[in-house]
This record gives sequence, C-alpha cells and structure tokens, in this order.
Amino acid sequence: MKATVVTYGCQMNEYDTHLVESQLVSLGADLVSSVDEADFVLLNTCAVRGKPVEKVRSLLGDLRKVKAQRPLVVGMMGCLAQLEEGQQMARKFQVDVLLGPGSLLDIGAALESNERFWGLQFKDELHAHIPPAPTGKLQAHLTIMRGCDHHCTYCIVPTTRGPQVSRHPDDILRELDSLLAAGVQEVTLLGQNVNAYGVDQGARLAGYPTFAELIRMVGRSGVQRVKFTTSHPMNFTEDVAAAIGETPAMCEYIHLPVQSGSNRVLRRMAREYTREKYLTHIEQIRRHVPHAVLATDIIVGFPGETEEDFQDTLSLYDEVGYDSAYMFIYSPRPGTPSYTHFQDLPREVKTERLQRLIVKQKEWSARKNAAKVGTVQQVLLRGDAHDPAFLEGHTSGNHPTVVPKALGADRPGIYPVRIGHATPHMMYGTLLGPDGQPLPELPRHTPEAAALSSPLQMA
Ligand code: 5AD
Ligand code: SF4
Repeated sequence: MKATVVTYGCQMNEYDTHLVESQLVSLGADLVSSVDEADFVLLNTCAVRGKPVEKVRSLLGDLRKVKAQRPLVVGMMGCLAQLEEGQQMARKFQVDVLLGPGSLLDIGAALESNERFWGLQFKDELHAHIPPAPTGKLQAHLTIMRGCDHHCTYCIVPTTRGPQVSRHPDDILRELDSLLAAGVQEVTLLGQNVNAYGVDQGARLAGYPTFAELIRMVGRSGVQRVKFTTSHPMNFTEDVAAAIGETPAMCEYIHLPVQSGSNRVLRRMAREYTREKYLTHIEQIRRHVPHAVLATDIIVGFPGETEEDFQDTLSLYDEVGYDSAYMFIYSPRPGTPSYTHFQDLPREVKTERLQRLIVKQKEWSARKNAAKVGTVQQVLLRGDAHDPAFLEGHTSGNHPTVVPKALGADRPGIYPVRIGHATPHMMYGTLLGPDGQPLPELPRHTPEAAALSSPLQMA
C-alpha cells in the first residue's frame, strides 16, 4: 500500500502524524509524498477555526472525484474527525476510515476492516506508546499530555481532545532517551496546556512531577535544547519561570497566549485570569529569564469586543513588548459556548482590527530583532536553505536565521552565529569559530548565492 498523510493544524497534529506514519510503515505501507501516488490518503484535520475546516471539506470533495476513477481509501483523523461536523462530512464524502485524536492506534484495525471504520474512543494505551525517533533530524516533538481541562468559551479543543490526561514521566523519559539516541538535539514538549502537567482535573497525580520539576528532569537528560508549547496563564507559576531560568537547555522562547488585553473580554472568554495577573507572570518571566523572547496568541473581534476593549489589547501589547504574536480573527465554532450565546461581530470590524494589530506586531518585531544585531546567538541549523550555499535554522529565541556555509560548519548542528542583519521575520548572520572569530565562508557558485551575500540587498 502507498500511503500519504496530509496535515493541518498545530504541532500536536504534527506529532500525531509522525505517530500514525510510523504505524503505517510498521504495517508495511510505503509513505509517498503526493496524493496522486497514494492509494490511502489520510487527512489529519484541525477544527480550531473555520478555515482549516473548509480546506478539509474542499480536499475531501476532490478525493471523492478521484475515488470515482480509481481505487482509493480515504481517511480522516484529528480534531475534526471527533466532531459531528466532521462526521457529517465523512458520510457525505464517502470517507472510509475515521480516527479521533484518542484512537490513533486503531489505524491497523481500520485498514484491515473491509467496511467503513470509525474509531472515536480515547484509548489509554496511546500514552505508553513510544513512536520511533525521526531519522536524520535534529528536532523532534514530545507529547507530555493530551486534552485540556479549561473551557474557554471560543474553543472547540476540550470537545475534540477531551479532558487533560498527563503522560507518565517514565514514558516521557523513555521517549526522550530514544530521541537523544537518534541524534535529536532540540525537543519541543507538547500539550494543550503544559504547565498544568501532573494535575489532571484539578487533582495532583501521585508519582508525577509538576511541570517545573519535569523541566528540571528533562534538563538533566543531556538534551541540548528544550522548548514547550503551549501554556495557559491560569496555570503558570513562578516555579515554572524559575525552572526555565535555572535549566541551561531551556530555550529563551516563551509562548504565553493572552488572547485579549481587556478584562471584560477575558471574562467573557472564561480565561480565568485578569490582565493584571497576566502581567505579573510576565514580570516573573523577565526576572528569572532575563533574555526571554516572548510570544503570544491574540484573538481579535471576540463577540462584544468594543473599540475600547481592543485598545486594551493594543496597550497590553506595548506593555509586554512581545517579540512575536500569532494573531487570529475570532471564528465562531459550532458547539462552543460563544457560538451559542454571543453574536459574531461584522467581518469588516474584525479584519480592520486585525490589520491594526499586525502593524503593531511588525513594529515590535522589527525593534526587538534589530536589538539582536551584533549579538552572538546559538543557532540550530537544520539544513540547507533555499540556496544550498546557505544553512537555515533558528535561534534559542525561535528566530528564523540564515547563514552562509563556512569552513567546518557546512552541515546541520548548533553553532554560534553573530547576527549581522535582521528584519521583522528573519535574521542573517555569520558563523563563528571556537575563538569567537568569523569562520571563512565557503565559496559560492550560484547567482542566487551572490545576490544573497548582501542581506541588505535582499531586504
Ligand atoms: N477563533 C479564533 N481563534 C481561535 N483560537 C482558538 N479558538 C479560536 C477561535 N474560535 C486561537 C487561540 C489559540 C490558538 C491555538 O488558536 O488564540 O491560542
Ligand atoms: Fe491542534 Fe486545536 Fe487544531 Fe486540534 S483544533 S489540531 S488541538 S489547533
């Protein structure tokens, strides 16, 4: 069988794609990279906003046409598969296999079945399952928990992924060991709300560390770099900030989604914290992690958001001075409380506010990145850039970075780089040797490389 998995959504989905792909390989499937070559196409779906849902609908429509012409098995997994909305689509577009986020290990049974197979149960064995380490990669994801115990009124995830279940620390550490043995240097700890790790449904789990303790444990494993995503300010404690500060492997990049700067909106979102409380977390982070690179998620145009509420979001942005932000227009999701109880704002109001927020984000990113020019950053270079005379990667602060290859530094790894130029989205630098001096650059042959040699010329 030739199989391909098409992935939408977040890093949790990327991890699950890797898990299912490795199951497919162990079942004897060949992984192919295009839908045209495949006789099994599996869509790993996202339901968090309307857009990813519409993308899946349109691809399912195309696949139904292909099915009319040749044998093809179509599957759907991930968050949308767990929802009535997704199941209706599955019926309409003749989907053969449907796997909710808790039933991924049913993939073998699904492919053996001669009839339509729908798996929607949460199976605990998923937690103990250790997917094989990715080959030849410096970076990997590591799931530490699944599901979410919060009930933000806009969010569909508690419905799709269920209540929070923390993974046993032994399973986490075993998976970490296997990643390290495979040469992985940077691990991203994944969960909907990693800082609530070890406390499921409000109860502290016996034999489980807290998230802060887990950070320290992971830090002692010998891993070079650790990041995490994502966290809820309600469960953020000063001990987490302290653990990040004390653990050399922890990246400077810290993502703490605020969603809105207005207390009135935060209350209507049921976020369980105030602007003031959020700012105390930021202050703790800055104290324990002086070089913290701060990122956030913001929803604009939540139902009932006034111009004054939106001004509170803009002023919070300035007060924190975020390095970067993921910004979303509120998308009403059937099945969420805000969809049922609140009236959506007009599209124009939402898009106009998003535009103003993007302007602010760009100003801050430009300012923050410019301040890094002249500094030395440890950059994880994961491989060749578009032009093979260059390597691309990211700093400990998660800034995408490009450098010309140099003598002794022409392959993936973590290297010191002096930043020479920065835009709001990209940093350009020079590889340094052990003595802190620039390494001699390798000769470049292509015209693209010649053009890239002056980043200023590119900007
Ligand atoms: N509309 C817009 N954005 C949303 N998010 C979650 N639900 C919605 C929604 N209904 C955003 C939040 C979250 C990120 C993953 O997606 O900002 O942090
Ligand atoms: Fe990830 Fe949420 Fe989308 Fe599910 S709905 S894939 S958890 S972003």
